[in-house]
Amino acid sequence: MSLLITNIGELVTNAPRDAVSVASPGPFEALTDAALVLDAGHVAWTGPAAQAPSADTMADAAGRAVLPGFVDSHAHLVFAGERGAEFAARMAGQSYSAGGIRSTVAATRAASNEHLRMNLARLAAEMLAQGTTTFECKSGYGLTTADEARSLAVASEFTPEVTYLGAHVVPPEFDGNVAGYVDLVCGQMLAVCAPHARWVDVFCERGAFGADEARAVLAAGEAAGLLPRIHANQLGPGPGVQVAVEAAAASADHCTFLTDADVDALASSGGTVATLLPGVEFSTRQPYPDARRLLSAGVTVAIATDCNPGSCFTSSMSFCAAIAVRDMHMTTQEAVWAATAGGAHALRRTDVGHLGVGARADLVMLDAPSHAYLAYRPGVPLVAGVWRGGQRVDDGQLRSTS
Ligand code: NIG
Ligand code: FE
Repeated sequence: MSLLITNIGELVTNAPRDAVSVASPGPFEALTDAALVLDAGHVAWTGPAAQAPSADTMADAAGRAVLPGFVDSHAHLVFAGERGAEFAARMAGQSYSAGGIRSTVAATRAASNEHLRMNLARLAAEMLAQGTTTFECKSGYGLTTADEARSLAVASEFTPEVTYLGAHVVPPEFDGNVAGYVDLVCGQMLAVCAPHARWVDVFCERGAFGADEARAVLAAGEAAGLLPRIHANQLGPGPGVQVAVEAAAASADHCTFLTDADVDALASSGGTVATLLPGVEFSTRQPYPDARRLLSAGVTVAIATDCNPGSCFTSSMSFCAAIAVRDMHMTTQEAVWAATAGGAHALRRTDVGHLGVGARADLVMLDAPSHAYLAYRPGVPLVAGVWRGGQRVDDGQLRSTS
């Protein structure tokens, strides 16, 4: 059954430039007074409302904006427990360190599969209601073969973008034996986990894993059929970005502390996306990554939430886009592109992050006339409707614009 959505005030398409190639996100593009036809779960037509073809059913957007669904390419959603007290202490002056991860590891190990599933279901629903139609989900709070494997199995019930992060931190039982833990992550744990995952990730940071360990984890993951991505340069300068580019990783995530050589390496990488996670800097009071420097150098930039119980517990892509605009000086167009098409690039997806003909019909309608309202009205719940694969997934009631 086809659906025509007409009277769209602004339709952000990020349509592919080269219609002959496989449809994949192009640069930011928006049409005004537009319409969109969805058919069989895909975008069938976009263009001026006055020229729209007819369809089986019709919806009137009443001048609202329609955007591609958000693509959140970095999230840690399989966990138990919470760290509200750690956050409060941080706001009272304590600094963030990777050590807090261990408290979530203890809670996650003690939790049943059903508890982990319910927690993830709640967060996935929260994301969808806010317009996130694709999300990535990491393991990394189990850190035993059995706990990592069940974390990934639960994640794969909710998303195909599942990431093996056995190398999140060294668990307490391996204190003083980092090499032994890396052997486990690259050996038995990987063998059991790889069938449940698409990606392999490593937290390359002082206090977590060094360059050689990160290289070993990514190489072992690739040998097991996984695609590399990495946590890099979050807490200080380090080798993570260089390791990412060497490994042709799809994305180097965080990129908060970069040297000129790091920026050059990303710019000439031919495909490693810099995924910025401004909610982390907001929630840890760190300096923001220098988005303008990356964009000026020609690096592909994505924005994601990093939703996790420690460094950043927001699931809101709108919020992250608003901070990217306000505090990282991205334009509203750059931020929306980074939160949609950029995320798709970071996940090597051509079917999402844009609304070109043939794209998956994942879209979000805002109770606002343009994408700019995401930053112009920060913190306001602007989502008026969400479609995923052509299906309306919210309550189906368009709220009044008045
Ligand atoms: O991306 N950097 C490592 N991992 C998470 C933090 C996880 C935690 O603090 O629990 C991050 O910020
Ligand atoms: Fe993370």
